[in-house]
Order: sequence, then structure tokens, then C-alpha cells
Amino acid sequence: MKIIMLGAPGAGKGTQAKLIAEKYGLPHVSTGDIFRANIKNGTELGKEAKKYMDAGALVPDELTVKILLDRVAQKDCEGGYVLDGFPRTIPQAQVLEDALAKLGESIDYAINVEVPDEAIVNRMSGRRACVSCGATYHIVNIPPKKEGICDVCGSELILRDDDKPETVRKRLEVYHEQTQPLVDFYQNKGVLREVDGTKTMEEIFDSIAKILG
Ligand code: AP5
Ligand code: MG
Repeated sequence: MKIIMLGAPGAGKGTQAKLIAEKYGLPHVSTGDIFRANIKNGTELGKEAKKYMDAGALVPDELTVKILLDRVAQKDCEGGYVLDGFPRTIPQAQVLEDALAKLGESIDYAINVEVPDEAIVNRMSGRRACVSCGATYHIVNIPPKKEGICDVCGSELILRDDDKPETVRKRLEVYHEQTQPLVDFYQNKGVLREVDGTKTMEEIFDSIAKILG
């Protein structure tokens, strides 16, 4: 099963993608997590990506597409995957479509997690993320068992550099301009499913599990 998570920054794509990956035994592929791991390790890719990410802009398609196609070509992705944060532009979606079509494959579900902009800025300031395994928490809504420490892998939790309110507003602008058109793109392909992202994490996951069966 090949699933795409759509939604604004902070809508809960990563949170739900992790749950889906666990329940259905699929790899969770997040381009944002891949970039952050590269930044942490000081790679050339990380240095290049950081310039855009810190400004709330998108990393150029050329860079992003190559990384994603390499990742989904790995063995663990043979039985499908959950894409979180990719595609983010129509050209990215088109490249993915073409690559899959060559294999006689296609996306099964594009799940759009809907949250209004006002709720997003509030969520982001409370988010804490694990740079080692990508798990996310919220200091009020979804706190870790031990403050500052990841429940899953025991690593330190950080506040992301791009979660400052002014950067979040920029990311929302970029989302509406460049990423929201993907909702229509996948609607036209007949694979779009919508869930209300303002509910609790568990309620949202129940709705998604009903969709995926
Ligand atoms: P990326 O890491 O993908 O960030 P994003 O899309 O902006 O999304 P977020 O990770 O911020 O939010 P999310 O939807 O995953 O929400 P989460 O589950 O954490 O990308 C970062 C940057 O990398 C981009 O800006 C860009 O520069 C670059 N990039 C990445 N991919 C790219 C691409 N394809 N092309 C070009 N550039 C790319 O939840 C948010 C918070 O809310 C958490 O604290 C969480 O605990 C909490 N929460 C979750 N669910 C609930 C709930 N139901 N109720 C209350 N709180 C909740
Ligand atoms: Mg995320």
C-alpha cells in the first residue's frame, strides 16, 4: 500500500504517518526528517537544505525529488510506504506519478489532514521533535513520559529551528501557494481522502484506519 499524507505544516502528518507505519508495517518516509538528519550530520545536502528550511521556503524540487526516489527504491519500500511531506509541489507529484507508472504502480491513498491556520501556529510552538527517530510530541497535547526525552528511543527532544511563529506563518503561505493544489491533483486521480485534523490524535487515527481498512 502506497500512501501520501497531505496537510499544512503542523497538521499532524508526521504524527499520523508514524501510527500508520506501525499498524500496517510500512516504512515512514519523511523528506523533512531526511533533511533534518542531514543537517544534524553536517552533510553537504544538509547545509544546502538548511538555507531554505530556516527561511520557511521549500527545498528546490531537483534536490528533493532525487532524495525521495532513491529512498523509495530501497528494499524496505517494496511493499509500499507512507510518504510524509512529499510531494509538496505539482512537479514533485508528477515526477512520482511518472516513476510509479514505469513500474506499473500508483498511489493508493492521499490522506489530507485538515486543520485551520489559526490552530497551527499554536501547535508548532509546543512541538518537540526527536532528531534521532523523528517522533514528535507536544508539551501540552501529547507530552513525552519524561520531559525532554523521546519515549521511543531515549534521545533528546528539540524545538525545531523552523517552528518560530514568523517562520511558521511563512511556511503556511508557501503551503497555500505551492502544496494545497495537490488536494485537487489527487482528487482528480480518485485517491483523495479527507480527515478532520482538529480532533484528537486517536480519533484521527481511527478515521484513517477505517479508510485504509
Ligand atoms: P516537514 O518536516 O515536512 O514539515 P511540515 O510539512 O512543515 O510539517 P511538520 O512536520 O511541521 O508538521 P506535521 O504535519 O508533520 O505535524 P506533526 O505531526 O509534527 O518539512 C520541513 C521543511 O523541510 C519544509 O518547510 C521544507 O523547507 C523542507 N521540505 C521537506 N519536504 C520537502 C519537499 N517535499 N519539498 C521541498 N521542501 C521540503 O504535529 C505538529 C504538532 O502538533 C506536534 O507537536 C504534535 O505533537 C501536535 N499534534 C499532532 N496531532 C495533534 C492533534 N490531533 N491534536 C493536538 N496536537 C497534535
Ligand atoms: Mg512532520
